[in-house]
Amino acid sequence: MTMIEIERILRELRLSGIADTLSTRVMQAQSTQEPFLDTLGAMLQDEIDRRRSRLSERRFKQSKLDERPSLADFDWRFNPKLPRQACFELHALKFITEGANALIIGKPGTGKSHVAKAVAYQATLQSYDVRYVEADTEFARYALANHAEQAKILRTYVEPDLLVLDDLFLARRIHEASAELLQAIVHQRYKLRRSLIVTSNRVLQDWAKYLGDATMASTILDRLMHRAAMLEFEGKSYRLKEAASRIALSPVAAP
Ligand SMILES: Nc1ncnc2c1ncn2[C@@H]1O[C@H](COP(=O)(O)OP(=O)(O)OP(=O)(O)O)[C@@H](O)[C@H]1O
Ligand SMILES: [Mg+2]
Repeated sequence: MTMIEIERILRELRLSGIADTLSTRVMQAQSTQEPFLDTLGAMLQDEIDRRRSRLSERRFKQSKLDERPSLADFDWRFNPKLPRQACFELHALKFITEGANALIIGKPGTGKSHVAKAVAYQATLQSYDVRYVEADTEFARYALANHAEQAKILRTYVEPDLLVLDDLFLARRIHEASAELLQAIVHQRYKLRRSLIVTSNRVLQDWAKYLGDATMASTILDRLMHRAAMLEFEGKSYRLKEAASRIALSPVAAP
């Protein structure tokens, strides 16, 4: 059988990971005279690697994350009081298997969204079904949708292994329908033991005010916090630091 014929069969069998590296593996085997089983093992590993990377790429697209932040590019010296240990604990993703939540609350620009996205991205790499949502924007979209669309939207927030609700209450008061959506998400995910990460720069004591309903706020917080890591982000805004360095770098205007 020729190489071309073998490649055609591999593609028919949907083994493109093996097909792509076939010529290299054949050359390698001929030049190193390695045992047949070693070559076969390497080829099978190529196929597995290809499938894993395709799956995590698909997971990344499905997640609707707009970037791939990591904890490695986070400057922990900038706000030394951040709960670094707890962030890495989340990044290890054990909380997803335990169906636990994380609440990341604190001052603007301190990196809450960065950390939440880094954890979500890590989960896509581990092939979890993840959904990232900018809470206010998406909740407003929900409030305007018709009944059938609302049911569909809710399903997309309940089904994933991990849901990130980022920047909750950025616009303070939310629409009544959005408050009900938040309640439905939290209740259903709690029942199914599916993890949720919420970031907000609003302290929990004020949630009743933003939801416009104290009972609703306490039922939501009760379920959210039952199995949850609570991360407080105290410190100064990294956005202001970046803005300050941009101003310092910009050329002085000629008089
Ligand atoms: N310690 C840090 N090291 C590196 N980059 C940081 C750090 N803190 C924040 N950033 C960056 O600063 C920007 C703002 O951070 P982020 O959006 O995560 O803040 P936030 O706490 O979510 O703020 P907000 O409450 O306004 O939503 C992002 O681009 C983020 O990557
Ligand atoms: Mg944020």
